[in-house]
Amino acid sequence: MDSRLTAIGLFAGVGGIELGFKRAGIDSSLLCESWPPAKAVLTERFPNVELASDIRQLRSLPKTDIVAGGFPCQDLSQSGRTAGIGGEQSGLVTHVFRLLRRRHPTWLVLENVPFMLRLDKGSAMRFLIDELESMKYRWAYRVVDSRFTGVPQRRQRVIIVASRSDDPRAVVFADDATAPADDAWREDAYGFYWTEGLRGLGWAQDAVPTLKGGSSIGISSPPGVWLPKERPGHRLVTPAVEDGEALQGFPRGWTAPGARALGFRKGFRWKLVGNAVTTGVAEWLGTRLVSPGQYDPSLEGELSGMSRWPDAAWGERGTARRVEVSDRPRQDAYTHLGDLLDSESVSPLSHRAASGFLHRLLRGRLRVGGEEFRLATKEHVEYLESVA
Ligand SMILES: C[S@@+](CC[C@H](N)C(=O)[O-])C[C@H]1O[C@@H](n2cnc3c(N)ncnc32)[C@H](O)[C@@H]1O
Repeated sequence: MDSRLTAIGLFAGVGGIELGFKRAGIDSSLLCESWPPAKAVLTERFPNVELASDIRQLRSLPKTDIVAGGFPCQDLSQSGRTAGIGGEQSGLVTHVFRLLRRRHPTWLVLENVPFMLRLDKGSAMRFLIDELESMKYRWAYRVVDSRFTGVPQRRQRVIIVASRSDDPRAVVFADDATAPADDAWREDAYGFYWTEGLRGLGWAQDAVPTLKGGSSIGISSPPGVWLPKERPGHRLVTPAVEDGEALQGFPRGWTAPGARALGFRKGFRWKLVGNAVTTGVAEWLGTRLVSPGQYDPSLEGELSGMSRWPDAAWGERGTARRVEVSDRPRQDAYTHLGDLLDSESVSPLSHRAASGFLHRLLRGRLRVGGEEFRLATKEHVEYLESVA
């Protein structure tokens, strides 16, 4: 008898969860995804797995060990409409609960943005938990940062694991690593968002800030990278979408079938990448679903004040406890941003983008990056003008 676990991937996107699970020895048995470019990627990358189109049309789920899904976060994410969990897109998560009521897997895995812990003074999260507890699930969640998987991308996400029969704490909290020392990060590449002002979240040393999926209608843009040691004109660049794929732990070229479905519209391929779950996060989770570890109850404490949920907690039957763990379950070997970027295919940040960004930099309060970065941006703009 085959003892490999099987998983159903809802809102599968380009299959970040599924690829990570596969590396952990878990097979996908059914995928569900509605956006044609994402479906094109899934069809090519998971050719033998049945693909359903719309969760609203799914009547029931086949028997499986794991049901997993990063439900659409537009309504939940800070940059989105903040309409709350009842919003049209995120309301789709209610279809997950409808399907679970018909057949319970051993494990449920949900993924979303950390802002969900604060949204509506905590009531978005309360809604999810009430649904789970009404079906007698014990739940555990944790905010994790993709950097622990070794990719140079700062990306925090909430991972929720729930089960009626097994202990999710032994999956979610079994691993904890200490943060690398500050000198672990190199000083040859800094990521930033040139589409924004320069706030804390749009800046990272030896990493890019969170790759974004963008809004449902908007086109996503790549982050900027400052390479202080490069030659003039090549110090402010944007990575190629293949670098974006690598920043999410995918093999380069993974989303190319989506671009073909889109008629090569670059921004949309960035959207596919930005929406995805970092494959290493799913691989860690999958490894623990296959082989749960030990849970240390001395890490727990009281939950107080519910306007913001803590970064890690668990609960069952109306009780909840906070858990003191970091956002790094492990620390895998780190790929430095300067090493990950393919120097042949990065593009200089355009004059238009760089001058608009410089304008915002000069007007706004510069909190990070410092004078040297401002100067580098100015020099980049001037260089492009001198060669135009
Ligand atoms: C946050 S993304 C999930 C990304 C995925 N975990 C990955 O690694 O690529 C949410 C996905 O839900 C899909 N979606 C939206 N409405 C849907 C529906 N009614 N049925 C199925 N999928 C839907 C979106 O197209 C999007 O790809």
